[in-house]
Amino acid sequence: MPNSQANLDRVPILTIPVLTIDGPSGSGKGTIAAQLAEALGWHLLDSGALYRIIGVTAQHRDLALDPKMEPTIAAMAEALQIEFVGELAVVDGVDITTEIRNEDGGAAASKVAAMPAVRDSVMALQRGFRREPGLVADGRDMGTVVFTDAPLKVFLDASAEERAQRRYKQLKNKGLSVSLPGLLEQIQERDARDRGRTVAPLKPAEDALVIDSTSMTIEAVFDQVMVWVKERGLTNPS
Ligand code: DC
Repeated sequence: MPNSQANLDRVPILTIPVLTIDGPSGSGKGTIAAQLAEALGWHLLDSGALYRIIGVTAQHRDLALDPKMEPTIAAMAEALQIEFVGELAVVDGVDITTEIRNEDGGAAASKVAAMPAVRDSVMALQRGFRREPGLVADGRDMGTVVFTDAPLKVFLDASAEERAQRRYKQLKNKGLSVSLPGLLEQIQERDARDRGRTVAPLKPAEDALVIDSTSMTIEAVFDQVMVWVKERGLTNPS
């Protein structure tokens, strides 16, 4: 019988709407995803934070972020107790928010994220964020791999130069001393690794709607996505 009980049991979860926002670092997807989750009253999955946590924790444990260490890092990731308490990332009871958010945390994330076994180890955790009334999922492969049935998929892009400028301003505002050419180089390196990897490379899903935010404000991007949300009937009845 094609309609097995197992399939029927899965129906309720698949009816919970997911809005995926994928794109490269600095495209503004983190900000947009958080604003959309707030406006819709939906849950938020920051999947990049998961890879950042795994990369930083592996370094704490003196594990080289090297393909040879893939099974060890994947086993470590599987056993971690990860909690998001508001904006804070708490791992095995320790707050590591500051460390995961710096440039080194991003570079470490990009390395562990290229390991297929590590990606598998966080799949169930990511899908577990799909809860009523809905989920906004921010990442690189939310629409292509993790939530392939999402009713709305957005791919948010921007030129590398514009993304480096945005990051530069952000870090300057935090009082950190940074170099713009250095940031551009880091962004280009990370892009090459994220787009070029064999597993879940960064690319728009075939059914994704693409926005190039290079010369757009955050508000304009938000408004455009909300238009699509409404067009697809995803807003909660009020
Ligand atoms: O979005 P972010 O900058 O926090 O992501 C950090 C790194 O994690 C980034 O280099 C790519 C990787 N990543 C990924 O491979 N898949 C995801 N779904 C999210 C992030």
